[in-house]
Amino acid sequence: MDRRDFVRTSTVGLTAAAATAGLAPHPAAATGPVAPAIRRNRAATPIVISDLSGIRYKNGGPESAVERAFRGITEGEDVLDALVAGVNIPERDPTEMGIGYGGLPNADGVVQLDSCCMHGPRRWAGGVAALEGIETPSLVAKAVAELTDHHLLVGAGAQAFARALGFEIEDDLNTEDSRRLWLEWRRRVDPGHWLDPEERLRGQGRAGEETDPDRIKPPGSGSSTGADPDAPRRIRDFADASLEAGLSMVDDGLIPEGSFWGTINCDGINAAGDVCGVTTTSGLSWKIPGRTGDSPILGAGLYVDNDVGAVGSTGRGEANLYNLSSFLAVELMRQGMGPLDAGMATLERIRGNTVEARLLNARGLPNFDVRFFLLAKSGETAGVALYGSGETHYAVCTENGAEERPFEGLLEGSPRD
Ligand code: GLY
Repeated sequence: MDRRDFVRTSTVGLTAAAATAGLAPHPAAATGPVAPAIRRNRAATPIVISDLSGIRYKNGGPESAVERAFRGITEGEDVLDALVAGVNIPERDPTEMGIGYGGLPNADGVVQLDSCCMHGPRRWAGGVAALEGIETPSLVAKAVAELTDHHLLVGAGAQAFARALGFEIEDDLNTEDSRRLWLEWRRRVDPGHWLDPEERLRGQGRAGEETDPDRIKPPGSGSSTGADPDAPRRIRDFADASLEAGLSMVDDGLIPEGSFWGTINCDGINAAGDVCGVTTTSGLSWKIPGRTGDSPILGAGLYVDNDVGAVGSTGRGEANLYNLSSFLAVELMRQGMGPLDAGMATLERIRGNTVEARLLNARGLPNFDVRFFLLAKSGETAGVALYGSGETHYAVCTENGAEERPFEGLLEGSPRD
């Protein structure tokens, strides 16, 4: 008996035991948690949805992620296998700066990747976080689900797991572009020490002292040992300066907003009504090493329920971690909302829970964006964003081919108006 059968049998057993003991089983025991596992699947119309990375990046090949995934799904491939094969295309594409190879690195200049996947009919999931050296974290996440009873492997352990399976480990997943942008961020966040090359050539660099107590450095860098009573202030200053410098690069058009919190989420359903999803990302650009966002966390950056549908997200991961937004949206669909209403209600939850001054713009609204890709079991889709002004469309692939459909935005204007 495997772990999942055990859980199911145990739950049924508890209900029977309660009846024997003269206790009335709670109604949910008969109709709630157990019922979905034995409900029969309904036939459906195959469809794949994703953010625009799923239609724009082909890595020089003939198909985008949604096209590859849709082809697999309609040719009888397992839905999750097809979706993961789809997102492997932008993961390997060096021009996609939000995921996989060429994803924008952390504060130390190292690309650290997060991913998770969820298999609706099999009711399992796998994830990896802060994984270095592997272009396709989604494949490692799937292996975690397929080969272990764990959900999430992180950092060096995740890499060792992948190495044992024969994944190729690269020394560095940066491209020339991601390295150049990281250097630009270093200059913006720490101008006294990372000189503008043109100023330097003109001999006008603003070199500061290594001992400068106000120097902005990523936590953990430098040679000091032991407790630094000033560490909390330094970390806070670093976090604020890092975010400000990063957002200034978005505002200056150096990084698309979609790549700053770059992620791809891709969800699909086959003709038998099997629903699966995958999310993969290099996470927040210039993050503190080890920072993990919503993408590998079930319920935050992805959630799938084979009886209801799938929801995944891109954008500021912390907002989804605080609100378990993907799970919330799936639950709202379970309670009868269509994907559009469920997405809007989830965005409204995020808006209402965003109260810290540093996260608010001059209008008192969130200064970041979050997007959801919602796929109902019926095949109905929606793409929603806090602001519909950035990325204005999401991608869908059906038997009619790949197309872009417009987002619905909750708020007017843009995050930093
Ligand atoms: N949504 C991607 C991240 O925040 O890491």
